[in-house]
Amino acid sequence: MKRRTFLSQTILTAVAVSASGFIRFDGQRYVGECETTSDVLGPFYRPNSPVRESLRIKGEKGDPIELIGKILHDDCMTPYKKAKIELWHCDGDGNYDNETADFKYRGTAYSDNKGNYCFKTILPVPYGSGDDYRPAHFHMMITAEGYQPLVTQLYFTGDPWIEKDKAASSPTAKKRILEVQSLKDGSKKVAYNVSMAKKLAVEPASMGLLVGNYTSEKDLNNKLELFRQDSQLWIKGDKTNGMPYGVNLEFVGDNTFQMPGMPLETLSFNFQLLPYGVVKLVETFTDDKGEKEVTIYERER
Ligand SMILES: [Fe+2]
Repeated sequence: MKRRTFLSQTILTAVAVSASGFIRFDGQRYVGECETTSDVLGPFYRPNSPVRESLRIKGEKGDPIELIGKILHDDCMTPYKKAKIELWHCDGDGNYDNETADFKYRGTAYSDNKGNYCFKTILPVPYGSGDDYRPAHFHMMITAEGYQPLVTQLYFTGDPWIEKDKAASSPTAKKRILEVQSLKDGSKKVAYNVSMAKKLAVEPASMGLLVGNYTSEKDLNNKLELFRQDSQLWIKGDKTNGMPYGVNLEFVGDNTFQMPGMPLETLSFNFQLLPYGVVKLVETFTDDKGEKEVTIYERER
């Protein structure tokens, strides 16, 4: 299976995370103990959603729910103030607002002095077709200076689609499957504390060396555009890869990046900085049958 096909399929259905090989030793400690683990970004991220606590829309269907919690430093205790929390999820019919200026069911919040954040919204529903449904989930991106931006998803206990979904049934997602409490007034509540993790960060100057347009050495029609947003490197989305906006890459060291929630063994991006300003990008994709596909891109100058 070609990586491009794999991506459009896996990112849409999120069957991306293998059950093993995801909790990894980063050289000093096992990642995934107290930190909030990452999950696939999904194809429906949009930046710059409005800052607001309530995403509820009058007259639209859906169970009202409040999502509350704290953003914590990597000691899992100290509140992180003014972290940026972006939340996005589908409506009561399983659709995302990918276009309108209303940014329906999308919002940005900042944690307060005690690290608290809160969103009032509706409980998302599972979406998909046939036998292929994603369990209901919230998408979140947390940006906190000093930490690598975190992309993750929250699921809900009792959802029958969890066990069929590779991302949601991954051991790393266990702590992100949350109990929904029913309150006396008939509304619902769910709580989740996010623990940030210090991962390797790319120096802003180095990131400048990596952004730009890349073309495959073998196929001139196969192009990637890399850009910078906040402190992360992104691959710009296009119509063929199922990621309208794009996908962020996490730096794992040694000029290598991975996609959030996707094991490095499945997909990795390694940059080679060569003399005379030549930058090559080696993308290695291994499908579930173990077949490896290596694509070498060179940056346009
Ligand atoms: Fe989603």
